Amino acid sequence: FRLLRWTFRLTYLSAIGFVGWVAYTVWVQRNPNDQIEPDPNKKTLVILGTGWGSVSLLKKLDTENYNVVVISPRNYFLFTPLLPSCTTGTIEHRSIMEPVRNILRHKKASVKFYEAEATKIDYEKRIVYAKDDSEIKGESVEAEVPFDMLVVGVGAENATFGIPGVREHSCFLKEVGDAQKIRKQIMDCVETASFKDQSPEEKKRLLHTVVVGGGPTGVEFAGELQDFYMEDLRKWIPDIKEYFQVTLVEALPNVLPMFSKQLIDYTESTFKEEHITIRTKTMVKNVTDKTIEAEVTKPDGTKELEVMPYGLLVWATGNAVRGVVKDLMQQIPAQKDARRGLNVNEYLVVNGTENIWAVGDCAVANYAPTAQVAAQEGAFLARLFNTMAKTDEIEQQLKELSAKQAVAKNGDRDAILDEIEERQRQLRRVKQIGPFKYSHQGSLAYIGAEKAVADVSWLSGNFASGGTLTYLFWKSAYLSMCFSTRNRMLVVMDWLKAKFFGRDVSRE
Ligand code: FAD
Ligand code: NAI
Repeated sequence: FRLLRWTFRLTYLSAIGFVGWVAYTVWVQRNPNDQIEPDPNKKTLVILGTGWGSVSLLKKLDTENYNVVVISPRNYFLFTPLLPSCTTGTIEHRSIMEPVRNILRHKKASVKFYEAEATKIDYEKRIVYAKDDSEIKGESVEAEVPFDMLVVGVGAENATFGIPGVREHSCFLKEVGDAQKIRKQIMDCVETASFKDQSPEEKKRLLHTVVVGGGPTGVEFAGELQDFYMEDLRKWIPDIKEYFQVTLVEALPNVLPMFSKQLIDYTESTFKEEHITIRTKTMVKNVTDKTIEAEVTKPDGTKELEVMPYGLLVWATGNAVRGVVKDLMQQIPAQKDARRGLNVNEYLVVNGTENIWAVGDCAVANYAPTAQVAAQEGAFLARLFNTMAKTDEIEQQLKELSAKQAVAKNGDRDAILDEIEERQRQLRRVKQIGPFKYSHQGSLAYIGAEKAVADVSWLSGNFASGGTLTYLFWKSAYLSMCFSTRNRMLVVMDWLKAKFFGRDVSRE
C-alpha cells in the first residue's frame, strides 16, 4: 500500500509539473519580453529567406551583436516534410506554418523584417534590392538595403528543364499555395468527372493523376493521394471507383534513387499492392493541357513515344537555381564554373567573397538539398556569427587593456597583465570553431497505406527499414521536429480529425 501511495503521489506531482511546464511555455510564448534596440554602430547582417536554413540561423543567433534585417516574400516558416499531407487535407496547411514574427519577437534584440523578394544582390556596392510583390502595395514598393554581412538562404525553384507546357499546365509541390492548388484540383477533377453525361473516356482522363518525378516528393504525394482515394473518396463518391488511377512517372530505372536497394524494392511492391502504377525509364518530353508525351525506354533498349491523358498533373522533378542567385553567381568570377548554386567553402562563405554566406538549397557544399542539411548549416552559421562577435568584443577589450597597461603604475600593471592573459585564453577558446561538418541522421519517406521507409544512421552503421512500425517512427520523428509546441498540437489534432471523421472532400 505504501508503494502504491508513493506511486500515486509521484504520478500526481509529475502531472502537476507537466501542466505547470505547459502553462509556463504558453505564457512565455504569449508574453514576450521587451526587446533591446539594435546598436547602429554594429554591423548590418542581412538574411534572405525564411526557410530551413535562415530560420535555423535566426533561432540560434544572438541578435544583440548585429543589426539584423530579414527579407523574404514569405512571412512564415514552412515545415516542408509534412507538405504532401496538405494536398489531401490530412493536415491543414496552417498547422505546419510558423509566423516569422513570433520567432523574431522572442529574440533579445529586435530584428527588422521586410516581406519582400530580393530582386538583385549588388556584390560590389553591398546592397540588396528588395521589392514588395504582395497584393497590397504602399507608396514604397522597392527599396535598397545595404549590408556588411549577407546570408543567402533563398532555397531553389522548381526544375522544369525547359520542357514545353510544364509551367502552364502542371502543379508543383514546394509552397503552401501549391498544396492548396492541388487539393482544389483533386476535388475539381472528381466533381467534373461526376458531371452529367460525362463519357467513360473523359471520366478516365479526369480521374487519372500523373505525378512526374520519382524522388521523395513525387513518391510521398502519390502515396497520400492513393490514401485519400482508398479511405475517403471512394466511400463518398462510389461512382469513381472504376476510373480513379495514380501513375508515377520516373526517367531513371527506379524511384527513390537516394534510398537503399531493399527500400526501393519495398516501395515499388507497396505501390503495386496499392494499385499505384509506376512507369520507370519514362522521360516526359512535352506537356499539353490534357496529355503528357513521354519517351519510354523498352527492355531491348529501343525508345518509343507514348501519350498519356491526365486530369491532374503534379510536377516534382527537383530543384533549379533561382534568378537572384544566378545573377549573383555572374557577378563573382570565382563562381564561373558553378551550376547548381553558389559554391561555398567549408565555412559556408561564398567562394570569391568574404562577407557573403549561403545556406540550404541555394548553396553547393557537396550535400543533398535537404531540410536536414539546411538546418545544420543555419545552426553552424549562428555559432560562427556569435563567435565572430565575441572575438571582436574580446579583441577590443585587449586593445583597451594594452593601452591601460602602457600607462599603468608598477602595482597595477601585474593585475592588468593577468587580465590580458585571461582575455587571450578566452580568445583562443572562442576561436576554436572548426569548419562545418554535416551529420547525416538518415532519410525518411512516407509511401502511403500507413507505411514509410527509413535509411537511418545509427551507432556508426546504417539501418534500413520499411513498414507500419517505420510509419510510426516517421510520425514521431516529424512530430518532434515540428517548429513549435503549437505546430505539434495542431498536427496531432489534424491526424486525429482525419482518422475519426475522414478528410474533408469539399472544394474551397
Ligand atoms: P527553403 O526552405 O525553400 O526556404 C527558402 C526561403 O527563401 C523561403 O522563405 C522563400 O520564401 C525565400 N525566398 C525565395 N526567393 C526569395 C528571394 N528572391 N528573396 C528573399 N527570399 C526568398 N527535406 C528533408 O530533409 N526531409 C524531408 O522530409 C523533406 N521533405 C520535403 C517535402 C517537400 C514537399 C519538399 C518540397 C521538400 C522537402 N524537403 C525535405 C527538402 C527541404 O524542404 C529543402 O531542402 C529545404 O526547404 C531547403 O531549405 P532552404 O532554407 O534552403 O530553402
Ligand atoms: P529529386 O531531385 O529527388 O527527384 C526528381 C526525380 O525526377 C529524379 O529521380 C529524376 O530522374 C526525375 N525526373 C527529372 N526529369 C524528369 C522527366 N522529364 N520525366 C520523368 N522524370 C524526371 O526531387 P524531389 O523529390 O522534388 O526532391 C528535391 C529534394 O528535396 C531532394 O534532395 C530530396 O531529397 C528532398 N526531399 C526529401 C524528402 C524526404 O527526405 N522525405 C521529401 C521531399 C524532398
